[in-house]
Amino acid sequence: MSKIYIPRDTTALAMGANQIAAEIAAEAEQRGEPVEIVRNGSRGLFWLEPMIEVETANGRIAYGPVERTDIDSLFNSGFLQGSTDHPLCQGLTEAIPYLKKQQRLTFARAGITDPVSLADYQSLDGFNGLKKALQMDPQAIVDEVKSSGLRGRGGAAFPTGIKWQTVLDAVSGQDQKYIVCNADEGDSGTFADRMVMEADPYMLIEGMTIAGLAVGATQGYIYLRSEYPVAHQILNEAIEKAEAAGFLGDNILGSGQRFHLEVRLGAKAYICGEETSLLESLEGKRGLVRAKPPLPAIVGLFGQPTVVNNVLSLAAIPFILSQGGQAYADYGMGRSLGTLPFQLAGNIKRGGLIELAFGLTLRELLEDFGDGTFSGRPMRAVQVGGPLGAYMPESQWDTPLDYEAFAAIGAVLGHGGVVAFDESVDMSEQARFSMEFCVEESCGKCTPCRIGSTRGVEVIDRIRNNENREANLELLSDLCDTMIDGSLCAMGGMTPFPVNSAVKHFPEDFQPKTEQGA
Ligand SMILES: Cc1cc2nc3c(=O)[nH]c(=O)nc-3n(C[C@H](O)[C@H](O)[C@H](O)COP(=O)(O)O)c2cc1C
Ligand code: SF4
Repeated sequence: MSKIYIPRDTTALAMGANQIAAEIAAEAEQRGEPVEIVRNGSRGLFWLEPMIEVETANGRIAYGPVERTDIDSLFNSGFLQGSTDHPLCQGLTEAIPYLKKQQRLTFARAGITDPVSLADYQSLDGFNGLKKALQMDPQAIVDEVKSSGLRGRGGAAFPTGIKWQTVLDAVSGQDQKYIVCNADEGDSGTFADRMVMEADPYMLIEGMTIAGLAVGATQGYIYLRSEYPVAHQILNEAIEKAEAAGFLGDNILGSGQRFHLEVRLGAKAYICGEETSLLESLEGKRGLVRAKPPLPAIVGLFGQPTVVNNVLSLAAIPFILSQGGQAYADYGMGRSLGTLPFQLAGNIKRGGLIELAFGLTLRELLEDFGDGTFSGRPMRAVQVGGPLGAYMPESQWDTPLDYEAFAAIGAVLGHGGVVAFDESVDMSEQARFSMEFCVEESCGKCTPCRIGSTRGVEVIDRIRNNENREANLELLSDLCDTMIDGSLCAMGGMTPFPVNSAVKHFPEDFQPKTEQGA
C-alpha cells in the first residue's frame, strides 16, 4: 500500500488540498491501487502547496504545486511508486534546498507527522521535555530556560526565563497562577504561530505544561485569533487526546501534578495581541490596554501572576528541556540566541517559513530563499516585524537578522514577518496606510495614538497633495515624536517607525508627482 501525505493546514486547504485528497483517493480506487492518505501539516514551502509527498524506501518524494488537472498524469507517471519523472516532482523532500538549508529546531516535526497523532509526536521526541521537567524542581526548569537565552518571539524580545522567574517568585498565598499563550498573530505576513498550531499542536501543549510546572500555574489559556478556524479545531482535538492520555489534567503522567488547558477565541482586534489588552479580553471585557506597572507577571489574568508568552516562545520550550538550554543557545549571535522562524510574504516568488539561527542577512533570506519578487520586477522595499515595523531600503538589506543590529538602524525583527514590495510600490501610500492602520486598530485609551494617528493621515494626505509640503513634513515629524514619547503602548509608540522610515529612505515618493520624474 502506498502512503501519501497531503497537508490539511489552512494554506494547503486554501489551495484546494481537500479536493486533491478526495480525487486522489477516488482515482486510486478506480485504478485498483491501494493507498493510505495521511493528512499532515505543511512543511512551510508555501509556493509548492498543495505539496503532496509519497513515502518510498529512500525517503519521501514531493510533488507540487498539484492541481486537479495533474492527478491523472501523476498516476500515469507512477508517482505512487515515487517515480521522479513527473514535471511537478521536487525530488526527495528533505533535499529540497529551501528546506535543507534551514536549521529547524521548533519546526523539526512540522509537516512530517499527522498533527493530532500522539504516537507520531512521541516517535519524534515528543513529550521528552515534559518527562524531564517532571523530574526537576521549578527553579531548575526556569534556570534551564534562562540558560537557553530564549527571548520572547512575540515582538518585544524580553527574556523568557526572567519573565518566568518573576511569576515563580510572585507572592505565595495567591492561590492561582496562569499561563496564557498569545496566539493572536496579527502581524502582516506572519503565519508561524498558525503553523505550530496546525502542524505540531502537542509541542505547544507540552511547552505550556512545562511553563505551568515551572511557575506553579495549574491553568492555561490559548488566546487564539478567531480567524484561525482550522487551528482551533486541531488544537481542541489535540487537547482532548492529550487529556485522555494523561499528558494534561489532574495527574500528569502519574506525577500528581496538575495542568488544564483551554482555547479561547480572540475578538478580531489587532490590539488584543498586546498582552494587557489580551488579558482584558480574556476576562470578557473590551480589549483596552492596561497601564504598566504592574506587570502581568505579578498582576495578570484575574489579578493573578501570569506568564504571557507567544506561541513560538512556548513552542521552543520542549526542545530546550529535552536537549538542554545550552543546545539552544549554541545557535544565533550576540544576545539573539537560538533560531527565529522567518516568514516570507508579500511580493515574493517563494513565500513560506524559514527557520534559521539569528545572524544571516535579510538579503540572504530574500534572495537565497525568496528568489526575488513574484512579479519579477526589482524589489524596492521590505517591511520587517509587522505593521509597526520599519520599511527597509536595499542599502539596509545586508543587516544581520539580530535584535540588536536591527535596533541600531531603527528597525525591529518583531515576530519575524518579512513583507516584500516591488518597484511599483508608492511609499507615501504605505506611510498613509500605517497611520490609517493605527486609526483603525487603536484601543483609544490615550490621546497621542487615538487622535495623533487620525491627524497623521490628514498630514500625509496634505503632503501627498503638495499642500505646504515642507511645513507638513516637519509637522509629521513632530507628530511622530509625540506619538513615540507620549503613547501608552507600542501601538501608538511604534506606528511612527514605518512612517518615518518611509519618509527617510524613500523621500522621492513624498515629492510632487511632477518633480519625481525630473
Ligand atoms: C499592538 C500590539 C500587538 C501585539 N500583538 C501580538 C501578537 O499578536 N502576538 C504576540 O505574541 N505578541 C503580540 N504583541 C506583544 C505582546 O504584547 C507581548 O509582548 C508578548 O505576547 C509576550 O510574549 P513573548 O515574551 O513570548 O514575546 C503585541 C504587542 C503590541 C503592542
Ligand atoms: S497607544 Fe494606542 S493602542 Fe496603546 S494604549 Fe494608547 S490608544 Fe491604546
